Amino acid sequence: MIIKKAKNYQDMSRKAANIISAQIIMKPDCVLGLATGSTPIGIYRQLIDWYNKEDVDFSRVTSINLDEYRGLSPENDQSYRYFMNTNLFDHVNIDKSRTFVPDGLEPDAQKACDDYNRIIAQSGGIDLQLLGLGHNGHIGFNEPSDVFIKETHCVDLTERTIEANKRFFASEADVPRQAYTMGIGNIMQAKKILVVVSGADKASILKEVVSGPITPAVPASILQLHSDVTIVADEAALGALEI
Ligand code: GLP
Repeated sequence: MIIKKAKNYQDMSRKAANIISAQIIMKPDCVLGLATGSTPIGIYRQLIDWYNKEDVDFSRVTSINLDEYRGLSPENDQSYRYFMNTNLFDHVNIDKSRTFVPDGLEPDAQKACDDYNRIIAQSGGIDLQLLGLGHNGHIGFNEPSDVFIKETHCVDLTERTIEANKRFFASEADVPRQAYTMGIGNIMQAKKILVVVSGADKASILKEVVSGPITPAVPASILQLHSDVTIVADEAALGALEI
């Protein structure tokens, strides 16, 4: 794992955006695995800025998002499809027909997951997977568990995640209790992985992820076994590690 230290959130966002834009420049028809949450917002802003300056061109890029709440429509302003449209896709020249997010409205969970695994396979594989980190070590919505689940699956969100994500909803009762998420195997098959972490509240979990035991109780700890992981974290998030 390569750990890059950033001064603050803005610096983290620019350093991570640099890695993504380098990927697009080196391989214009690359497949990007994209993430939601607060952490990547600054990265997307930076990429939009560089797109406006004609430094990065999304016209041949395919994107595959990690996850989606079960039951939310693309028009729901809390859905991850809506998040991606408003935070990135609407502002750059990506072909929306090549942007993929699990279908939150598919009631048949098995079908939703099978369809998504097929999309990932047909893309030819993810070149660069962007990941945020949940406070409990989750990646995508792979919550702490007894086992690593390999492929896209329907997950019951933990109380901790519901609590953390309620800030985006009118009330905690509005937070969906389930989500469709890529599995750990889907994530580990990406050629390169870029993890972004910001804030002192992520310091202890980041330490566990990087130097603790590899266990499904801390899903992101499996990243220790991937051969090409870059973590870009700000000083506050690196506070528990001696770097
Ligand atoms: C959500 C997403 C994750 C994300 C995590 C952390 O639960 N499903 O993909 O990494 O939250 O979010 P934040 O960046 O807001 O801390």
